[in-house]
Amino acid sequence: MAEPLDVIFDTDPGKDDAFALFLALAASDRLNVLALTTAAGNLGLETTTAAARRIVEAAGRSDIPVYSGCPAPLLSTHEPIPHFHGADGLGGSGLPQMARRPQAGHAVTKLIELIDKASAPLTLAAIAPLTNLAVALTMRPDLAAKLARLVIMGGARAAGNITDHAEFNIHVDPHAAQIVLAASAPTVLVPLDVTRPTLPEPHWFDGLAGFGVPGRALARMWRERAMPLHDVIVTAYLLWPDLFALERCRVEVDVDDQETRGRTRIEACADGPIDVVADIDRKRLYENIVSTLSVYR
Ligand code: RIB
Ligand code: CA
Repeated sequence: MAEPLDVIFDTDPGKDDAFALFLALAASDRLNVLALTTAAGNLGLETTTAAARRIVEAAGRSDIPVYSGCPAPLLSTHEPIPHFHGADGLGGSGLPQMARRPQAGHAVTKLIELIDKASAPLTLAAIAPLTNLAVALTMRPDLAAKLARLVIMGGARAAGNITDHAEFNIHVDPHAAQIVLAASAPTVLVPLDVTRPTLPEPHWFDGLAGFGVPGRALARMWRERAMPLHDVIVTAYLLWPDLFALERCRVEVDVDDQETRGRTRIEACADGPIDVVADIDRKRLYENIVSTLSVYR
């Protein structure tokens, strides 16, 4: 059995973030989650940070540090989306609220510190707007080459989800996305085109309700308001890369035009710097997710 991957999740919980994190924490034999760093995205930073702490607590992993990051995008104004995720980011989960004790250390400085001191190259799972990563890579451009892999949920080949053109994570902070995608880290992009169709039948979630506190929380959240498993696909890629078809691409981000801000222009080319997910074996994906989450029974 290979050594577990050392991974940091940059996250803005968010219901699908919660699902992605519960799945990652269930697979502790294959993923060693070193820390969570939180961003402003689905909700404001204080809310996403509190939600991240509630998630690690619910998974029985309050040993995992949660570091709060940048409170706003680099240049854009932040527009949270509580109508999708609930005012606390985990709408309907029933997870206990927590004292919002801040964790010492800013996410950006902690990202740099953890990457620097890692005995083996770290994997970064970016399931939020990319502000924290952009600041870290601007402060220390050399970090890009120190990463084993950077896996990002974001962008879209075709229509967006927050505007006609843009996917949410990129739309919130397109300047950060431009910086991160140009940083030449070994990057895999998981775009909306492959995540939007991952919305299993409602009864599939009923099966999850038997998987302890995390399973019950997921079933409740999806019963309250179902949504595609966007961020879950990043965790799935880390766990089961053989389910994925990748394509070498060049990826550009629109930052100036207010109407198309956050649009990603994804062009396949053999010498492209970014691996973009082109397809997933969804049947095996759902099977693998259920068997992995059953550890919470
Ligand atoms: O477009 C989907 C992405 O935006 C996901 O990361 C979801 O959590 C929201 O942040
Ligand atoms: Ca997210």
